[in-house]
Amino acid sequence: MIKRVQAWLGRKDRQQPVEISPDNIPLHVAVIMDGNGRWAKRRGLPRIVGHQNGMKAVKRATIAADELGIKYLTMYAFSTENWKRPKDEVEFLMRLPEEFLAIELDELIEKNVQVRVMGDAEALPSYTRKAMEEAVARTQNNTGLILNFALNYGGRKEITDCMRSLGKDIEAGVLKPEDITSEVIDSRLLSGGLPDPDLLIRTSGEMRISNFMLWQLAYSELWFTDAYWPEFNKEHLLQAVAEYQRRTRRYGGLK
Ligand code: IPE
Ligand code: IPE
Ligand code: MG
Repeated sequence: MIKRVQAWLGRKDRQQPVEISPDNIPLHVAVIMDGNGRWAKRRGLPRIVGHQNGMKAVKRATIAADELGIKYLTMYAFSTENWKRPKDEVEFLMRLPEEFLAIELDELIEKNVQVRVMGDAEALPSYTRKAMEEAVARTQNNTGLILNFALNYGGRKEITDCMRSLGKDIEAGVLKPEDITSEVIDSRLLSGGLPDPDLLIRTSGEMRISNFMLWQLAYSELWFTDAYWPEFNKEHLLQAVAEYQRRTRRYGGLK
């Protein structure tokens, strides 16, 4: 018999227990953290206050994911398209990793979390890159949850760069076109070494992928919530995982 864990929802949902089976926890959860700006606007506050509060939600989500036994948590923090935003907002977002890690890194280390980052690091300001590099270096031997930040990440850029590297190897005569397999492509993507996400969460009611992990999301289960990212808490994660456990993953076959 499957052992079931009952996790209770808070406040208005208190009537309904969320049933989570410990045997079917998604290995890799990816999150499009969206709605910071609208969360702030609703409160008559500047957008950056939304980003500030979004940072607290990252902490909550990380702890909740760790408690649930999720092994990989990928957080979309800044896309290759987000440079289009006003200079001040971009600058604020680029300062956040520094601030987040100054406050949280010690606790992440205590919790055995390993920080990773995927994206074009070269285009980041030096202070952003430095903060991320330090977090990656200081946690590289940790064996707990892998917290992977997608920072200046774009799915199309990732695939374009991968194709370019394959092309170069073919030109140099070290790779034959027939040797290009799905596994070879996987290994050359920025997420190389990570399993594909089992579950994708997007907040704020938007139902699109926005250039996130285009290759890796091929068979991920998608879960959307109207909650804005700064509101995201453990209850949302439990709801997402409970819904994930009700899905039948067929991968094109039959069940
Ligand atoms: C998500 O919130 C954070 C980033 C994309 C960096 P937004 O800043 O996109 O907030 P909305 O979608 O405008 O409300
Ligand atoms: C996606 O959110 C990028 C991140 C969460 C980092 P956006 O707010 O940039 O996406 P669009 O513009 O609504 O598609
Ligand atoms: Mg947005």
